[in-house]
Amino acid sequence: MRLVTRLTLAFLLVVILIITLHEYRQLGDRQADFERDMDRTHLLVASTLADAVELVAPREGLDAALKTVEVTNERHAGDVRVRWVCLDGRVDEPATAVDCATLAEDQPITASRATADGVRRFTLQPVRIDGRAAGAIEVSESPSHEGAWVRQHFDDAVLLALMTVAGMAMAAFVLGWWLVARPTRALMDKARAVGRGELKNDLKLAANDELSAVADEMNAMCRQLERAREETSREAAARLAAVEQLRHADRLATVGRLASGLAHELGTPLNVIEARAGLILEDANAEPQIQSSAKVIITCTEQVTKLVRQLLVFARPRHPELLPLKLSALASTVRELLEPIASKKQVAIEVKDAQSPAIALADEVLLQQALTNVVVNAVHACNTSGHVTISTGEVEGLKPGDSTPRKWCTVTVRDDGTGMAPDVRAAIFEPFFTTKPVTEGTGLGLPITVSILEDHHGFLTVESAPGKGSTFTLHLEPARITVS
Ligand SMILES: Nc1ncnc2c1ncn2[C@@H]1O[C@H](COP(=O)(O)OP(=O)(O)O)[C@@H](O)[C@H]1O
Ligand SMILES: [Mg+2]
Repeated sequence: MRLVTRLTLAFLLVVILIITLHEYRQLGDRQADFERDMDRTHLLVASTLADAVELVAPREGLDAALKTVEVTNERHAGDVRVRWVCLDGRVDEPATAVDCATLAEDQPITASRATADGVRRFTLQPVRIDGRAAGAIEVSESPSHEGAWVRQHFDDAVLLALMTVAGMAMAAFVLGWWLVARPTRALMDKARAVGRGELKNDLKLAANDELSAVADEMNAMCRQLERAREETSREAAARLAAVEQLRHADRLATVGRLASGLAHELGTPLNVIEARAGLILEDANAEPQIQSSAKVIITCTEQVTKLVRQLLVFARPRHPELLPLKLSALASTVRELLEPIASKKQVAIEVKDAQSPAIALADEVLLQQALTNVVVNAVHACNTSGHVTISTGEVEGLKPGDSTPRKWCTVTVRDDGTGMAPDVRAAIFEPFFTTKPVTEGTGLGLPITVSILEDHHGFLTVESAPGKGSTFTLHLEPARITVS
């Protein structure tokens, strides 16, 4: 059975009980009132008649006096009966209601007695003639119309009870539905939604009661679950990324081993090819066509040799010797080294903050190689009259995978070149990924830079947008020595 129905029934039961008790008490009170009224009226009639008999009887005789009683009895309509009750048996009937002896005491008597006509209410007023108790005036009436009144009252009470119960039932049902059933259904729907994993939408109950408190608790619980779920999915994503990184590292190691083996094997034949092509080129008797072919062979061999060299750098195990290194000095060195390449393309390389005190713990040779790779890329990305700036400094930053930020020494390379589309940006650290022509790019520059930085416990960040240039920042651990 539903809660609202149960509440309504309990409520109605209490109401019915209260109405019944109230009506029962009222009925008792009314019955007593009724009898009191009847006795008072009877007594008034009886004592008036008794006075008349006492006055008339000494002068005109008892029979004449009793005429008044007879006339009153005849004239009185309805169920009221008035008669003379004689103590010495002179009147037709002896007193039925009471013991005649008690009438001698001069006090009126009232009582209910069963008669041949049913129960009647009697009132007897003693009459004294010539100083002695002669008889009594008896007024009696059947309480039958009291019964009718009781029945009427009972019917009214039942009608009132039915109307009250119906009204209350309706009110209880509507209020129960509004205050209990409706919010309970909303809570049930919310619980089902939580079961389905829908935790987002808060449940709002307008009232400020126990059910709305339950709703608030439920909302708080959902928020906690949501946070826990986000935390779990974040952890799962982090685990996935770690696994992916491991796979990537594994791939790199394999590539490195293959590359180093291949580079060793290729080195000697390449040297031989280049030397022989040089001999042909130097031969003055060789035909011009053969000499130009020899030139092409030498150019191609140089390209392959460059690739082999880079592969060896990439694959060779490095043991960086970490010493305090002034980054602004390194930036100037790299700028000087790359000046010829840049000016060929009419690109300006500028070192900013040349006086920056940033000193990192770094292997100078390896870090120079890492920075060179980044600056060369910047120059390549620039159009004619482009600008590349190298700046050094110190920042507070968070290394990917760390939870607390730290102080880092940085070298930032900014260019106003082509910038990168998101798909290129996503692939630049893959070994052999390049967007440059075969003669220009090997796709190993950035992977080498990243692995050198990893050896330094540092990291590389990139910001880039197509047409807006790129910014690469090398982050290194500070040497904790500040030199101005
Ligand atoms: N500053 C830059 N601006 C635009 N693209 C860049 C920049 N630096 C690197 N790239 C992109 O990253 C790719 C990979 O670079 P890298 O690993 O150095 O190999 P490579 O220079 O041999 O192509 C480049 O081919 C280029 O597409
Ligand atoms: Mg490069």
